[in-house]
Amino acid sequence: MSQELWTAVDNFIADLMISRDEALEEALRATADAGMPAIAVSPAQGKMLMLLAQSLGARKILEIGTLGGYSTIWLAHGLAAGGRLITLEADPKHAEVAQRNIARAGLRDAVEVRVGKAIETLPGLDGPFDLIFIDADKVSYPEYFSWAVKLSRAGSLIIADNVVRKGAVIEPDSSDANVQGVRRFHALVAADKRVSATVIQTVGSKGYDGFTMARIL
Ligand SMILES: C[S@@+](CC[C@H](N)C(=O)[O-])C[C@H]1O[C@@H](n2cnc3c(N)ncnc32)[C@H](O)[C@@H]1O
Repeated sequence: MSQELWTAVDNFIADLMISRDEALEEALRATADAGMPAIAVSPAQGKMLMLLAQSLGARKILEIGTLGGYSTIWLAHGLAAGGRLITLEADPKHAEVAQRNIARAGLRDAVEVRVGKAIETLPGLDGPFDLIFIDADKVSYPEYFSWAVKLSRAGSLIIADNVVRKGAVIEPDSSDANVQGVRRFHALVAADKRVSATVIQTVGSKGYDGFTMARIL
């Protein structure tokens, strides 16, 4: 099994299941044109986020880690009528590109991009959020999880991306700070009696990784 095959299957899934959306495609183009990394969720993953938001009837969504707003737009498409999404981004250039992409998608009124390190902007938020998507610096995932629980209610869903890290998550002695971040995050999630959680491994155009999903009890 190879990256080539995973990408081909992701393309097959996208062709079958995901309608063309000019604003989403332009968001990826503008992100690349701005020299930003190609680390947004895949189209299939973006649609999964939208479906989860729709299933929850989400009226308030929080995202930590915006990049060019690709996952933001998918999530915002899953908001219930009149719902709002706040997305937190540390890099002002990323936030600027995201704001343009979000406006182009017609979501200016539904989405707010807050610029600054998430650890500094999180204390200023008013919960509860129905869905919280964690997708910023992996070292801070334990802190983001603690904030996510504080900003939730019973039934809220917390989703965290890039938590398997090509399988390195099982290496206790890893010298990679990102791996240690997701390991500490998983230890916290597993020990927290307020949530019921699982981890789903994924392969696809984004390689081998995974999502953690935690539901507040
Ligand atoms: C993986 S990208 C987000 C991808 C985006 N969610 C998507 O799928 O389209 C991570 C983003 O988190 C931002 N970031 C990194 N550290 C951060 C921090 N401490 N606070 C807020 N954002 C941060 C990065 O600048 C980057 O834009």
